[in-house]
Amino acid sequence: MFGSHDSQGDLEHDDAPARAANPDFLDGKYEPVVSAGEGGMASVWMGYTHGEAGFRRKVAIKRVHRHLAGDDKFARMFVEEAHIVAELNHPNIVQIHDFGREADGGYFIVMEWVSGLNLKDYVRGYSLVDRTPPWPIVSAITIEVLRALSAAHSRTDVSGRAVPIIHRDVTPANIMVGFNGYVKLTDFGLSRALDRPRTTDPGIVKGKVSYLAPELFEHHKPDVRCDIFSVGVTLWEALSGRRLFGADTDVDAALRVIACEVPDLRELRPEIPAELSAIARRAVARGPDERFQTAREMIAALSALLCHPELATDGPAIAHSAREAGDFLLEHD
Ligand SMILES: Nc1ncnc2c1ncn2[C@@H]1O[C@H](COP(=O)(O)OP(=O)(O)OP(=O)(O)O)[C@@H](O)[C@H]1O
Ligand SMILES: [Mg+2]
Repeated sequence: MFGSHDSQGDLEHDDAPARAANPDFLDGKYEPVVSAGEGGMASVWMGYTHGEAGFRRKVAIKRVHRHLAGDDKFARMFVEEAHIVAELNHPNIVQIHDFGREADGGYFIVMEWVSGLNLKDYVRGYSLVDRTPPWPIVSAITIEVLRALSAAHSRTDVSGRAVPIIHRDVTPANIMVGFNGYVKLTDFGLSRALDRPRTTDPGIVKGKVSYLAPELFEHHKPDVRCDIFSVGVTLWEALSGRRLFGADTDVDAALRVIACEVPDLRELRPEIPAELSAIARRAVARGPDERFQTAREMIAALSALLCHPELATDGPAIAHSAREAGDFLLEHD
């Protein structure tokens, strides 16, 4: 069979025609194997891309939900996501490899597979044993996410003109913490390069409401400081182990974001340094002008805090923490 030991390394053996005829392969090349998770618009599968001579590589395959496959507006959004992300090439951004359509017309994206946990599960792992993740590691993860955003925010076109990409959907579920210690941001699904035509409905706020910046509810044009706000909410939640603007309905969540009442982190977690609490607070300031103005500025603030010889926050330290959270999930979930 495909990728079996018989065919591996056999340059004479061409199994491409058989793959092309196999309905389980997308575009005759991509084999979804295990479901890795489900979101609002798609399901993500761990799978393999198959090449000649038994070559195969692990990939993530994001497949649009069937009920959305025929929705033109949605299809345009998904195609746009694929185009935008394909342009981004950065170690902290999940790399997109390919884009295609299934036999029934549904779209799919083939991406680099990240072996690890999303940040939501990472925090949940610790909460299962009544702990929160170590604050230095959370800060280091946040720096990596900000590096990804900084690259997207400072994108330029061929003539050097600034054409920032705003992510617009920075949430714990879209941050992957690898068991190898790499941190990768995914799903630039709602982002829209400012040089692209508008394809999302102007009246509809998409994305997870409790991470959206308050000015977006007042129909302000999104800018890079919206992403800073979302990073701030994510940071606050990872440090405290609680939801900041959680609510049962989107409307209630929006009202909470708009009110923007942020409990003092140090009252919840006294071990958190005052400087870190102040950084999180500044990132989730109600007014965009009160926040960090760029991802780089926030990176500088967090880096200054971590610049301490006793703090281990490098890749191996992140990897260790990710595996620890993974073990908690396995043992207690
Ligand atoms: N490249 C990847 N490698 C490994 N796992 C991934 C990858 N991309 C996504 N996942 C996993 O698949 C899950 C589902 O992803 P998906 O983007 O479809 O939904 P979501 O981010 O949870 O919510 P939504 O996208 O609807 O806002 C993620 O939470 C993550 O755990
Ligand atoms: Mg996602």
